[in-house]
Amino acid sequence: AIDINALRAQTGHITIDSGYKNTGATQSAITYLDGEQGILHYRGYSIDQLAAKSNFIEVAYLLIYGELPTQPELTHFNDMIAQRTLVHENFRTLLSAYPANAHPMGILASMICSLTAFHPDSLDPNLAEEQVDLNIARLMGKITTIAAWSYKHAVGRPLVYPKKSLDYCSNFLQMMFSNPTENYHVNPVVVDALNKLLILHADHEQNCSTSTVRLVGSSNANLFGSISAGVNALWGPLHGGANQEVIEMLEAIKADGGDSKKYIEKAKDKNDPFRLMGFGHRVYKNFDPRAKIIKAACDNILYNLGIKDPILDIAKQLEEAALTDPYFVERKLYPNVDFYSGIIYKAIGLPKEMFTVMFAIGRLPGWIAQWKEMRENKEPIGRPRQIYTGSTARDYVDIKNR
Ligand code: ACO
Repeated sequence: AIDINALRAQTGHITIDSGYKNTGATQSAITYLDGEQGILHYRGYSIDQLAAKSNFIEVAYLLIYGELPTQPELTHFNDMIAQRTLVHENFRTLLSAYPANAHPMGILASMICSLTAFHPDSLDPNLAEEQVDLNIARLMGKITTIAAWSYKHAVGRPLVYPKKSLDYCSNFLQMMFSNPTENYHVNPVVVDALNKLLILHADHEQNCSTSTVRLVGSSNANLFGSISAGVNALWGPLHGGANQEVIEMLEAIKADGGDSKKYIEKAKDKNDPFRLMGFGHRVYKNFDPRAKIIKAACDNILYNLGIKDPILDIAKQLEEAALTDPYFVERKLYPNVDFYSGIIYKAIGLPKEMFTVMFAIGRLPGWIAQWKEMRENKEPIGRPRQIYTGSTARDYVDIKNR
């Protein structure tokens, strides 16, 4: 039999904290988050100021390199990325092997992992900094091409190649929406909205996908493999996958007559697995500062694009009903970043299967910054412990005697 006391003497104390609700896994200088007061800063700059004044590439530089770039630094970073938006032609062959209904998150994760095959230098854990920077630029550039191509593949339209002359968001939009028979005009309102959304998703300290990236990277796994693992973690409906689920939920409520109170009651019923998607957060207990900015942006964008979406009204009714219901008040459940983002993506013309991919594009600089920090701090391999609850030692029983 296992001698528990001997085991304890050997291993010392082990704390159990399922879901790591109170366990800090690392020290980090990237993102500051105060869940009680609804504060979110990247490298000391408030998310409100960055969303209002900056653009996604500048914020990506800030997260990855720690400071706002000077103009030459920004131009260099932009060029490094723009020059690497093309993917190897064999990616077309890879893509063609997927069924048209393959979820683009699965394609994204596997294609990002495939970058290791095309850039094998990335496998060297002692790669020089300039080479790491090159791989960072490759990843930032190619993610938009892979994402847009996975959409084109799903709808069976010709793949559109990246245009170096365009800014990051405009290039992505033209790869998504232009086609050989029509000229696609990139709308500055949409570009502005996309920049805001990507900035608001760019980092969120040690969330599930970021912790995954750091944990995988802690074994000295390469950048592309670590980020691919993060994409998979983000895909889950309790994490980034919630933005697709929110729109599906709002559409279902609309199809069912638009009675939001009925769905509030469903969410409160502990015998019903239904949860109000886009509500609640592990850390924010008063409001999610990103949701506040996105809600305002949502009104603005729909107005500027001249779109009247009844789903927005349902979302607002749902929020109002939830925020006055004791169940949600007592549990401090508020709309999170995913609640309104899908409505904007829908207005831009993105299909709902692409919503979590958009989250991944936004979160990429955060994942990269966290992977880089983990590497530079020479953090040890992550290896949580456990408390064993299985059988005590027993003898093997031959199959005929079982
Ligand atoms: N609808 C109804 N009840 C909820 C919801 C919800 N969306 N979220 C939490 N609750 C209830 C739980 O049932 C629980 O109630 P109980 O105390 O009576 O058992 C209580 O609130 C606490 O919830 P937990 O699940 O313990 O909180 P946790 O911090 O583990 O989970 C999470 C946070 C996963 C975000 C959760 O609120 C949820 O499932 N939300 C819906 C999915 C979602 O929107 N995910 C996106 C999160 S943001 C992001 O990843 C970008």
